[in-house]
Amino acid sequence: MAVYEYHAGLEGVPATQSSISFVDGQKGLLEYRGIAIEHLASKSTFLETAYLLIWGELPNRQELQDFQQEIQGHRRLKYRVRDMMKCFPESGHPMDALQACAAALGLFYSRREISDPAYVHEAVVRLLAKVPTMVAAFQLMRNGNDPVQPRDDLSYAANFLYMLNEREPDPFLANIFDVCLTLHAEHTINASTFSAMVTASTLTDPYAVIASAVGTLAGPLHGGAAEEVVGMLETIGTVENVRPFVENCVANKKKIMGFGHRVYKVKDPRATILQNLAEQLFDRLGQDRYYDIAVELEKVVSEKMSYKGIYPNVDFYSGLVYRKLGIPTDLYTPVFAISRTAGWLAHWKEQLGENRIFRPTQIYTGLHGIDYVPMDDR
Ligand SMILES: CC(C)(COP(=O)(O)OP(=O)(O)OC[C@H]1O[C@@H](n2cnc3c(N)ncnc32)[C@H](O)[C@@H]1OP(=O)(O)O)[C@@H](O)C(=O)NCCC(=O)NCCS
Repeated sequence: MAVYEYHAGLEGVPATQSSISFVDGQKGLLEYRGIAIEHLASKSTFLETAYLLIWGELPNRQELQDFQQEIQGHRRLKYRVRDMMKCFPESGHPMDALQACAAALGLFYSRREISDPAYVHEAVVRLLAKVPTMVAAFQLMRNGNDPVQPRDDLSYAANFLYMLNEREPDPFLANIFDVCLTLHAEHTINASTFSAMVTASTLTDPYAVIASAVGTLAGPLHGGAAEEVVGMLETIGTVENVRPFVENCVANKKKIMGFGHRVYKVKDPRATILQNLAEQLFDRLGQDRYYDIAVELEKVVSEKMSYKGIYPNVDFYSGLVYRKLGIPTDLYTPVFAISRTAGWLAHWKEQLGENRIFRPTQIYTGLHGIDYVPMDDR
């Protein structure tokens, strides 16, 4: 059946059928494979959640243990990938470094037998294992240091913080970071996931699929808002400046970063969980003015804009939490990519299940029958 109605950005156009995640923007509900995000955030770990997203059900004890062990066994990078990273400019954005490294994995694991379940399993394990190592390695290398080798005795989240900061993290902080990874692991078909699905539909290798998704997530309209929230809090500077800042934004129709969502018209459930984590973190490590500014900002924005359905989104508190965990600002989006790799892989696998190459149509708005003008006559 031909459909000729055009929706810019495909807004509201179903592009797939999926059983991976569900969002109800009116009720503020997010489920992964039918399980509420609140339950996963409080009871599961990121790797257990990744397993759920990718394989469709929660692992039993043995399955989870095997999965964790497999991931531990694949965390290291080939020395040639590290050598390649040494050639990257220090000033390059870590998302560009991650995209290049993810694509480079395809050179080392070049088989494309995506119909072989063993190949799919290996690729899932390799990507989940190596993406954090790549992010941490680039961070150290761009500062002139050798990358830190992953440690097999540390959990997924703790190992990443260890590789980043060259010291073992407090288990409380590692646990908070693990919950952040769970919260960002999947969110239906947003731009980067759609990009992953389109690439997957050509039956290319999974490293190209993830590289394509990373490239899409890198854009400021998608993954970059958490970074901008921290910049905005810095600009506001003091609690007293919050009200005039918001009034100025309202008067001039300027967007306040970390607020509003295309789907959620109530508070994003992930923002509620993150706010709670931020409170725990600030109680433990001490308050700072950014937290006070953020709390006041949420109060004033909700006073002035809740009637429009403008509430904090996931990025509002994640920037604050990452900052307190000592993660550099330009790593917020790569950290998002570490977590979202789970969702992208789940959609890659789902796409392969009932694949049909994406080939939408277009509405041509150009001319017809134009004469070719020779070069000398133009
Ligand atoms: C996420 C976002 C793109 C969703 O946009 P959207 O669904 O297209 O909503 P719109 O841009 O159409 O906004 C609807 C109304 O709310 C207002 N609005 C939306 N988000 C706002 C924000 N963050 N600050 C102030 N006003 C906002 C718009 O100005 C518009 O007002 P109007 O009806 O008077 O013109 C948008 O809220 C935004 O840019 N937020 C800031 C960036 C951000 O935090 N991104 C991360 C998203 S997870």
